[in-house]
Amino acid sequence: MLTIALPTGRVLTEALDLLSKLDLPVTLLKSRGRELVIEDGTYRYILAKPMDVPLHVTYGAADLALVGSDVMWEISAPLIELADTGRGRCRIVIAGPERIAKRFLGHESELMWLRIATKYPNIADRYFSSRGVQVEIIHMHGSIELAPMLGLSDCILDIVQTGITLKANNLKIFENVTPVSLRLTGSVKSVQTKWEEISLILNKMKSLRA
Ligand code: PRP
Repeated sequence: MLTIALPTGRVLTEALDLLSKLDLPVTLLKSRGRELVIEDGTYRYILAKPMDVPLHVTYGAADLALVGSDVMWEISAPLIELADTGRGRCRIVIAGPERIAKRFLGHESELMWLRIATKYPNIADRYFSSRGVQVEIIHMHGSIELAPMLGLSDCILDIVQTGITLKANNLKIFENVTPVSLRLTGSVKSVQTKWEEISLILNKMKSLRA
């Protein structure tokens, strides 16, 4: 039995489509109710919040996981990245209201002590530290776009996919931080002990991308 942890939320649809193209059983996953563990044939699926998915692999509850590269970068979990699925593409950006835009056009010193709201405090810290800029990071868990609108922060570091949410909240992109996509990851132990089953999935994934 292979156990695969999957992220809930908007990326789950992409994940299910990928599993189905890989010929893994998804009928019970698609027709699930509120169950969080679903067994279908020789596969068990765990449904977890995106930020918690790596935990299930690192603590041995799952052999494999589909994890966003944003989450991998934020959590720095000891996972083996087996493949970039090319799915769930979006990007991490710095965005904010027009009045802040000019601070991103000048010298780095103009960014000192900006207040940045984000779901990704570690990424924000590393991004600005690497530029020698000290900022104040406000860690939020969702609806980040509210922060500059309500004066909690100057700007945000967040993921953008369609750009609709930024536009609806009058925020502009100032900088691209990194592209993001869904990665297939595994634990060191599972990759060693279940390589035969895992390599079948990887080969199928390669043939899909060929
Ligand atoms: C993410 C992100 C943005 C939105 C961007 O939030 O934090 O708010 O999606 O998507 P768009 O560019 O397609 O509009 P999510 O929907 O995951 O919800 P959250 O705010 O609860 O984190």
